[in-house]
This record gives sequence, C-alpha cells and structure tokens, in this order.
Amino acid sequence: MATGSKNKAPHSLAQYSSLPTPNPNHNIKRGSRDSTKIYEPTFPEQDACTPAGLKRAQQHQKMAIDWNTLAKEFHDILGIRPPDDLAFRKRVEAVLSRLSACNAVPTDERRTRLLALVNRKFDINAQAINKLLAIAAAKKISFNYHEKSRIAAAFDQSEKPSFTLVLQLKNAVDDDLVSAFRPASVEVTLKKLHSELVSPTLIRKDSRPRDWSQEIRRSLFGGFVFSVFRQQDMHELFDKDIHLEARYEPDFWKHLHKSRREMFSRAKTLVYLECDGSIEINKIAPSLQKEFFELANHGYFALHLKNAHGREWRTAALATLFAEKFLEKRLENGYFRWREIESTTRSYIPALADADTAFDRANLGYHYKDTFVLGDDARGGILLLFQKNTSDETLIPCPSCRSHDVQGNSYSSLGVKSWECMNPICPDRSKFDRGKRYSFYQLLRQQAIDNTNAMISISSVRAWSRDVQSVKPSDAIIEMLVRHYTLPGDGVLQIGGDVTQSLGRDITCEQLSKYLNGLNELGENALSKFSRSPFFGRFAIARPTPGAGKGAVESRTFGNTELLLGDCFDVLSEMPEAIFDGAVTSPPYYNAREYAQWQNIYCYLYDMFNIARQVFRTLKPGATYLFNIFDYFDNENTIAYSAMGDKRMILSAYCVELFERAGFKCEGNIVWDKGEIEGKRAFNNGNFSPYYQAPFNCWEHILIFKKPGGEISFARPLPRVLRQKPVMKIVQGVNCHGHTAPFPDQVPELLLERLPENSVVLDPFAGSMTTGRVAARLGRRAVCIEKDRAYFELGFSMLRNSAAQIPLFHLAAQ
Ligand SMILES: C[S@@+](CC[C@H](N)C(=O)[O-])C[C@H]1O[C@@H](n2cnc3c(N)ncnc32)[C@H](O)[C@@H]1O
Repeated sequence: MATGSKNKAPHSLAQYSSLPTPNPNHNIKRGSRDSTKIYEPTFPEQDACTPAGLKRAQQHQKMAIDWNTLAKEFHDILGIRPPDDLAFRKRVEAVLSRLSACNAVPTDERRTRLLALVNRKFDINAQAINKLLAIAAAKKISFNYHEKSRIAAAFDQSEKPSFTLVLQLKNAVDDDLVSAFRPASVEVTLKKLHSELVSPTLIRKDSRPRDWSQEIRRSLFGGFVFSVFRQQDMHELFDKDIHLEARYEPDFWKHLHKSRREMFSRAKTLVYLECDGSIEINKIAPSLQKEFFELANHGYFALHLKNAHGREWRTAALATLFAEKFLEKRLENGYFRWREIESTTRSYIPALADADTAFDRANLGYHYKDTFVLGDDARGGILLLFQKNTSDETLIPCPSCRSHDVQGNSYSSLGVKSWECMNPICPDRSKFDRGKRYSFYQLLRQQAIDNTNAMISISSVRAWSRDVQSVKPSDAIIEMLVRHYTLPGDGVLQIGGDVTQSLGRDITCEQLSKYLNGLNELGENALSKFSRSPFFGRFAIARPTPGAGKGAVESRTFGNTELLLGDCFDVLSEMPEAIFDGAVTSPPYYNAREYAQWQNIYCYLYDMFNIARQVFRTLKPGATYLFNIFDYFDNENTIAYSAMGDKRMILSAYCVELFERAGFKCEGNIVWDKGEIEGKRAFNNGNFSPYYQAPFNCWEHILIFKKPGGEISFARPLPRVLRQKPVMKIVQGVNCHGHTAPFPDQVPELLLERLPENSVVLDPFAGSMTTGRVAARLGRRAVCIEKDRAYFELGFSMLRNSAAQIPLFHLAAQ
C-alpha cells in the first residue's frame, strides 16, 4: 500500500535534485544516511506554480500551524505522542512563531513526508531494496550511486513513478524489476515504528541505557516540523549566512562556496613530481615541505620515482617519514594527551632520561596513503601518494538544516575536523536523536559524487585497483591521478614528466631542475633539522645490554639448525661479533598480533632499533639482511588513542631510517606480490568519483639491507618482485598451520639459495622456524631465535616433521 499523496506534481528530472543522498560509504544499508541535501520528498518548489499547487497553497493559508495542530497530526498519522520535553517544545514553538502558516505544505503531503521520514530513519525498506538490487544484478543491471539514492527515496515515499523513471532513464525498464518495487505499506511502517519504541534495535554506539522512546519521538517530531514547511523557509530561518547572498541558493555546496570562500581555494589540489629514483632525499624533502603549505586541504602530493635501481626505495622510505612527521607543532586539543604518552614511553625506555624528547610537541604532516609498484623490470618505478589533512576550524553550518547551532565533534581521522548539528528540528537527526555529523572533507567527497563531469570510467578504476601495476608511461599515471584525486576546474602542479592532456583541470607544468634549484637552500635545512629533531630522541636510543647469563632460556639443535628460546636482543647480545653470513626475518608488526603489543609506536621502534643494532653487530661485513614488513593500518598512539588516530602505518619507512642509524645501508626492496588478496579497501560502493578510489594493498616489503665493509657473493642477483601467495593457514575458520603470521618458504629461499653452502643464516624472529626448515632443505645452517615458548615448540616439531620428509636430511636430531 502506498504512502504517497494523491496530488503529486508531475515528475521531472529537476525534481531529482532535491531527493535525498544516502551516505556514499554505505551501499544500501542506510541506517546512517548522510545527506548534504535536504530530504524533500514529493513537493517540489515548482508545485506552487501549477494550478493545483496554487489551490493547495490557498487551502493551507487558512491553517494555523502551532504545536497542538502538529501534535495532533503527528498522533493521527503515527499513533504516538510528541515527546514530553518542555525545552524541546519551547524550541519548536519559537520556530513556529517565526514561520507563517502559508509556507506550510498541504496536510496530505505532510503525511507522506512523515511516513517517508520513518521509513528512512529506520531503514524499513532496506531488505526490499537489496532484493531488487540483487534481481537487477542477476540481470547484469547495476545502478550507480545517484540511481541507488533515487531508488531508495522512491521506496521510502512509495513513489512508483519515480522508480520507473530511474529505469526509463537507464533504458532498463524490466517487468521483474518493476514488480520487485515493493515498498513497505503504511501498516508495516507503523508496526516497525511501534516495535522500535518498545524494544529498539540498538547499534553499539547507542547502547547506553536511556529513554529510547523519548529520543525516537523527539527525532521524528523535529523532522516532521521541518518537513511541514518549505525547505527555503527553513533554511532562511536557520542560516545566519543568508544575508551574504542576494538570492537563496538551494544547493548547499554552492551556498558554502559563497559564504566560506576561504575554504575553497582549489588553485593547487594535486602536485605531481616525477624524477629519477636515484635522487637524494634532501632534494625531495623541501618540495614536500613547500607544497604542503600551498596545497588545498585534502589535496594530494604524488611522488613518482622512475627507473628501478634499488635506490628508489631508500628515497621513498625517507621521503615518507619526512612527509608524515616534518611539522613540529604544539597541539592544544584535548585528544593530544602528551603527558600520558611521555610517561608510558619513559617507563618503557628508561634510557630516555636525558634525551631531548619534547613530548609536548606533536609531529604532523601529510598522511601516507599508498605506494604503487610500477612494473618489475628496470624501467619500472614507484608512485607514492600523500594526502594533506589539516584541521580547519572554520564553522560549517549543518548541510541539512543550515543551522549554525553546531559543535565540534570528535575528528573522524586526524586533521579532518567534523561537526555535529545541535538543532533539534533538523530532519537528519539519527533515529535516536543524535545530531547529524559531517565534515568539510565529507562534503567535498559528496560534491565529487554530485559532479557528473568528475565521473571516472570503470575501466580506469579497475585498471588501478591493485597497487602492483605493470610499467606505465607518465601520461597514464598523471591521467589516473588527475581523474582519481582532483575535480574539474582544479589547479594541478606537474613537476617533470611529459606534457599531458588537461582533462578540464588547470595544469601548470614546471621543469624539474628549475623547480628543484629554486628549493636548494630550504632543502638542506629542512632535512637536517628533521633528522636532529626531538622526534628521533624518543626512540632511536641505545639500550644497555643485559648482564651475562640473560641469553637463551633454552637451546636445541636439530641437524644444521639451532633453535634458541629467548628475546633476540638478549640472545644476540651474548653472541660474538660477525658470525652470520646473512639474516632473513619477518618481525612482529606493531600491535598486529597477540605476540606484538606495544603501548605506542615509540616503544616498538626502540625495540626494533636495538635488535637491528645487535643483528648488525653479529653479521659479517658484506652480509645481507632481508626484512619482510607490511605497512598495514593501526594507531601509532602518539597523537590520539581513539579511532581518529588510525592510519596506514609507515613501519617500513621507520625501519629504513632506524636500520641506517644502526649502521646498515638500504640497498633496495623486493616487492612480495601476494596476488589477489581479500579486503575491502578498493570497494568504492559504486562511487566512480574522485576521492573514493583506493587500491587493494597487495604487496609487502622485503627490504634489502647490507652491512658495509665486505663482500659476500651471491649466486645470482635478487629479483625486484616475488610473486607468491601467502601461506594458507586458516581452513574453515581454524588455523591449521599453528602460527598466525608465517611467511612462505620462498621468502627465506631468496637469501638461502643465493648464499654459498655452509653459510650460517640468522632469523631473529623465527616464529614457526620457516627459515630453519628451508635452511635444512637447502643444506645451509641456520640460527633461529623465538621468544614465545609455544611457537618455539611448534617450530621444533615442524622442523622435525619436515626433516622426516627430506631424504637427504641425514643429520639426526640431537
Ligand atoms: C611475524 S612472526 C615470524 C613468523 C615466521 N617468519 C614464520 O614463518 O613462522 C614474528 C615472531 O617474532 C616473535 N618475537 C616477537 N618479539 C620477539 C623477540 N624480541 N625476540 C624473539 N622473538 C620475538 C613472535 O613471537 C613471532 O613468533
């Protein structure tokens, strides 16, 4: 049964511009629908111009709109009373007293709007919509974000013509789809509402015990009051900026453009810098610094290091570290609990006592996003992406009701200021009456969706859905960057590289050498100041070696492999210098596993630095150390502990810096391409627009470090890419391997196969002793250190079992 009114205006394309826009982050799960446009179901402004519209306008001019009228109507339609909340009532009455009855929409329309509001807030049509989308998908019909929004609105308003118009415009009119249009009947809507009032479906955030029914009634009644009047009247009532414009601007983004000009400087939204990978980091650092201050907020810096000679990886790592941390700032925000950070770090690192640490200053900069690997031969290169996010405190009115009664909300991520609307009559309050949350960045992303000229082709999105690519010419890379990370009309600075097409953007090209020469002076200062900064004083500190007898808790020898139980720092401290011909390992990734928990990244880095120093000491000059690590997502816990501090970790970049401080030379990196990996990162929910595209992170680093001063010959050079699936350890939900993070045999093979026989190889974080097993198979000697007793035992038994399967393995266990 329909909830629509009888007096509908004819449908037109223009009408769609006022339809709701669900949160682009959700597919059709619309619980937290996030619109930057007002939910204005079926009463377009043009209606007043039609004879029927005029008639209706005359009719309701006579009506007095006060609390009691609306309360009665609300009760008649939904069978529930408005909230018993005096303060709320006063706010509503104050609003009503400022609005004349002639601006109200007719009563039947009010009913439609109210029922649609209930449907939307409680996501009542979600199942039916998903069913329809599934039928469409089976017929190979897919809807983009805009079409899905219109379909959702048509369901909530029970407006079949709006739905069929979507199909018509797509040339996809189909009987099965038309008959799958089954919006909730009024009975279903009311039943759901009443059951929610008695026992609400809670989401975790809402689970504090409180008066749900009151909150639901307040949210619905507030939204109802808003929808009783024309959108323009409500906006003009709430928006203090309205005087800045000669005419009312229905589009919030355009309105914001006029009233918040300073936020809209799009003169530089992307910087692309292309250079040879052998470039020294002191040449790159100043450009990162200079452009950070010139880029529009949320803009991107793309660094393309061409030609693979290995050295590009060192530059990439140091540039990443500099980019993320170069800006030293005293933060006033309450989320920056530096005293707590200082005290946990100091209690973990007693040696910090006299170091210059300046914990009261935060280290900020770009957000590291991705590194695309461009091919596996010498012509390949890498492309790094950094995004600027700096907190802008400029007040942004609520995009739904345009009220300035908003307050700063917790940041969605560092540098992205978000707001919460406090207007009780805002139509976009949650079902439990929480104010709408939004940020400038979210609005920018929404704008990117709304701008049909910004649409990216499916082929471009697909072509760049992995972060391991084939060799790509510069123009293809720039085209991707421009399409995926800017909007039409934006300014782009291209430094180096060939001339490319503009794609409707304003591209300024600069010659690389000329540009870099202009930055020379800044360069030396920027980098040396950073490397001497207190930031490193918080973790790059030598740890005293333990007293004698603190080494291995237990040791076992099996064939040519020695297994040592203990902390590798302690165990290695007791070993003589220069005894190993090479090392290969995969360390515990900071806070990624149960065996890898640190209070903050400083504590982790302190451990990694000191273990690296011990590995360095025990390796022979000329020895190679292969270090497998992944830049996954977590929280460094050095600025904010909440989810806003979650980000892509730059573990590999930190390791390059620290290993060089320990004495190693970074000679390059082997890209371990893990193939098609699972994950959601590249899912764009049908939004083929800028700022929604991110690749799957398909590869891990195997960094190549060398201890200088000698030569240990390799049978053949190391490859640039290792294509290998990860170890299959979970089968039907059960870990059948035993270790949670083993690497495949092919990782230690990279080293062991290339070293001469009788070489001795170290794995300081041995886990299930994969290195030991590979060494045994290849007739090499290995020393494996593992801290965890259970993994030590597991490694031992796996070694024994695998030895039994190798006929040539004739050295018995001792
Ligand atoms: C990523 S796993 C290594 C997995 C191994 N490559 C394999 O194939 O099974 C890291 C291992 O380091 C161990 N570990 C962590 N800290 C350690 C330390 N200080 N000394 C020795 N082992 C440590 C953990 O218990 C874990 O088993």
